[in-house]
Amino acid sequence: MTMGSSRRVVILVSGRGSNMEALLAARLPIEVVAVISNRAAAAALPLAAAQGIVTRVVPSADFTDRIDYDEALRQVIDEYAPDLVVLAGFMRLLTPGFVNHYRQRLLNIRPSLLPAFTGLHTHRRALEEGVCVHGCTVHFVTDELDGGPIVAQGVVPVSSADDEESLGQRVLAVEHQLYPKVLQAWAEDRLHWVSPERVILRAEQENFPRVLWGK
Ligand code: GAR
Repeated sequence: MTMGSSRRVVILVSGRGSNMEALLAARLPIEVVAVISNRAAAAALPLAAAQGIVTRVVPSADFTDRIDYDEALRQVIDEYAPDLVVLAGFMRLLTPGFVNHYRQRLLNIRPSLLPAFTGLHTHRRALEEGVCVHGCTVHFVTDELDGGPIVAQGVVPVSSADDEESLGQRVLAVEHQLYPKVLQAWAEDRLHWVSPERVILRAEQENFPRVLWGK
């Protein structure tokens, strides 16, 4: 899906692909050159194929060694010469060699306000901790688990009526708004590295913050 731009993006998915769909629906000035999954059964793959996007599978089940898998994945990704690799529900821990190969070119979204709630079951844990706000984070990936430079965050107030599912749905709705905004900013050269550890999203307008508030 070329949109008159040569900015090449590869999207990695493992499952349903709702973030991938949000990125594709946003008609961003990027070219999604491939969608790659570690699972042949990922629902995201037929969704991408239906939009004419090349899909590939590098099955993680075929590998016992993480380094070998990541090397096989890297080779397939690099066939498409991406400027950016976007993780959209790609549910694997990545090895330092892989992550360093894509230094400052590997973006992830995760369902928590980093540095809170790294790892799994973030919505359940947020409710257990009784936090007042929860949300999602777009960050660059480093070899520190969920620890890379934060680009932007989406914040969702937690209601006393919430359960894991209701909270998760509201966070996901904000993910679908936040990720396209970050990709748009990237495509417009509005992400600026002020140091190797810190990236700033320059506002479209002075009053546009790096925080998106959900309901
Ligand atoms: C999203 O909530 C995303 O933030 C999360 O998985 C879900 C994927 O949904 N990612 C992670 O937890 C990464 N560690 P999707 O396939 O519908 O986009």
